[in-house]
Amino acid sequence: MIPREATPVSVIRPKPVRSRSSKIGSGRLEDLQSISKELNILIESERWRQESGAGSFDRNMIKALAKKVISTVQQPEEQWVEQAALMSEVCVIRVFNDWKAFDMIPQEGSISIKAWAEKLNAQEELIVRMSRILVATGTLQQVKDDGIMHTPLSKIYTNRHPAGLYFNTKFDIALVPGVGWVEYFEKFGRRVPEGITHTPFSIANNEPDKSSFEIIGMDQQRVADFAQSMNIAMKSKAVTGFYNFDWIAEKGRKDKDRTLLVDVGGGSGGAVEAITKAHSGIDRARCIVQDLNEVVESAHETMSMEMRQVHMMAHSFWEQQPVKGAICYFLRRIMHDYPDSKCTEILGHLVNAMAPDSRLLISDELLTRPPTLLGAQTDLSMLNIGGKERTKEDWLVLASKSGLRVSGIFTSKENSMCVIECTKA
Ligand SMILES: C[S@@+](CC[C@H](N)C(=O)[O-])C[C@H]1O[C@@H](n2cnc3c(N)ncnc32)[C@H](O)[C@@H]1O
Repeated sequence: MIPREATPVSVIRPKPVRSRSSKIGSGRLEDLQSISKELNILIESERWRQESGAGSFDRNMIKALAKKVISTVQQPEEQWVEQAALMSEVCVIRVFNDWKAFDMIPQEGSISIKAWAEKLNAQEELIVRMSRILVATGTLQQVKDDGIMHTPLSKIYTNRHPAGLYFNTKFDIALVPGVGWVEYFEKFGRRVPEGITHTPFSIANNEPDKSSFEIIGMDQQRVADFAQSMNIAMKSKAVTGFYNFDWIAEKGRKDKDRTLLVDVGGGSGGAVEAITKAHSGIDRARCIVQDLNEVVESAHETMSMEMRQVHMMAHSFWEQQPVKGAICYFLRRIMHDYPDSKCTEILGHLVNAMAPDSRLLISDELLTRPPTLLGAQTDLSMLNIGGKERTKEDWLVLASKSGLRVSGIFTSKENSMCVIECTKA
């Protein structure tokens, strides 16, 4: 029998003490809960979209939530682990791309590291150590103790996939010059480069007196890789869908002798292909793609049959524009390569060639506040070659300095591309 004054242990259960702080990592448990609610809403709306066939799936919103989860649980003092892993991983990918190492892994099935190293004519220990980081980050998959196989992530580095080549372009433009920033800003002052020579890119390539395109142009393989890699930028940065190019076809039906569209610095013609596919009234045979001689030559080798109707013209935009009075001049992702002083030169040649009713379309990034990840990153890549991404105000100032009047700015909802439509001032 329990004495009256004694209380059974089970009765004096302590009241649950509410934890004053629900902190996890650098965030709180409640933050995770609200992210989870947002994620559920997105999943439900995607389910509805798949059933109804309406709307489009915004993967970027889910990626942004995934990042929020990581930043919530991340211990600030531990973030160096992921940062350092990324630094090592990109260096390994760059050298493996150079050695065509990913092409030597079978598309299906696995390969032993020993056999892979033999194919690469490399020391086995080196390949073991380099491939470890790719397995740890999930780019490659480990098979048993001594083998590896592709994942969907590593396959983009095979068969000259534009995304794999674009990785090289970004590595060479964003990372290599960035490694030299400390010395660069020490020597040239803490300010953005003023011209297109003596840039971080020129200095990193030991060619201080040359511009980035002169340096890339010195190596035919680099030119071909650069042009092919631009096709991925085409996908991540919309060409069509947010500006109606149909007026070009309409005007062309009345003015039968005029060139419809001149894509200045148009690379291998990807933008003209996208525009003429989406706006079938624009006759490809009346379109011109201009670029440097070596780009035009390498484009001829990779062009689709349909695109062979387009006139590829070797022309430098530093010279007077030879095609006068075209209905539309188009400049996509050119202005961001240069400072204002150089852009006004390029635009000046186009203004001289334009008829009073010609329109000039500048298709480029529109920097927002706050910036997108892509916008902020591309801007710093451009800083390395003397260029810049621009805000709306920057675009208005540049147009007015160049003798142009902006008749409209059209923005893409999916990414930060815009079309700035201009006429002669
Ligand atoms: C960033 S890429 C943009 C290519 C294309 N417009 C696009 O949107 O994908 C810059 C292009 O400008 C070309 N370019 C560089 N200097 C040039 C010049 N002086 N005259 C004509 N094109 C030039 C490059 O070869 C390259 O194709």
